[in-house]
Amino acid sequence: SDSLRTSFIGKKIIYMDSIGSTNDHIKSIAGGSTDGTVVIANEQTKGKGRMGRYWHSQKGDGIWMSMLLKPHIAPNKASIITQIAGAAIVKALDEFGVSAMIKWPNDIILNGKKLCGILTEMAAEIDRINYIVLGMGMNVKSDNFPDEISDIATSLYKEGHAIKRADIIRSIFENFERLYVDYIKNDDLKEVVEICRERSAVIGKDIYVITWSEKKKARALDISQNGDLLVEYKDGRKESLVSGEVSIRKA
Ligand code: BTN
Repeated sequence: SDSLRTSFIGKKIIYMDSIGSTNDHIKSIAGGSTDGTVVIANEQTKGKGRMGRYWHSQKGDGIWMSMLLKPHIAPNKASIITQIAGAAIVKALDEFGVSAMIKWPNDIILNGKKLCGILTEMAAEIDRINYIVLGMGMNVKSDNFPDEISDIATSLYKEGHAIKRADIIRSIFENFERLYVDYIKNDDLKEVVEICRERSAVIGKDIYVITWSEKKKARALDISQNGDLLVEYKDGRKESLVSGEVSIRKA
């Protein structure tokens, strides 16, 4: 297959056969590693999902990888990087004829089920980012999922697509680098927002907005120029939701 056309993302790749979590591994080497370094594992024994959940990462079944990023931006401008990654993943899958959707802010959905999740972690001081770990887990060849997730999870294989992991990874690197550099260098989120809107699995749908203290029913209206989700509650009140601060569920 053709060679990688990026200038820093994935220029250095560390492959591991088995590891606890690629996110945790890259944290342990973050200080001495360059921007764009990637860790890819064939299996994770302690894969981490969002909100402390476990991420099923069976040997050979998926893309379990983490990228190390060291952007010179303010810490409060970092949460959108998860959405940039989601947009890059959708664009990458398009190249192989797979039309996935994005459940704001960062679940990748195929035929109504979860194909891929993103877990972003950041080490920062008040005014500067030390590093960001961008973890992606994509179910590629998974056939039998554990009972708890068998109704909600899917894989490329289950949806009828046989695509090599290495080909998808290359395309994710290229699409991510383009969208990420647009943002970091030029503060330009236009393409990301366009993708997140066009491929949204939630716009126009009834959802629950969930915070640490409550769960409210709303209708998802749109995604704003900065990636926030605009919702309208039952009483007509509108609110702009910032990713990382709330989560949503289908109503
Ligand atoms: C989610 O809950 O949707 C996020 C799942 C993120 C899983 C990936 S797999 C590679 C990286 N390492 C981890 O431990 N988690 C992320």
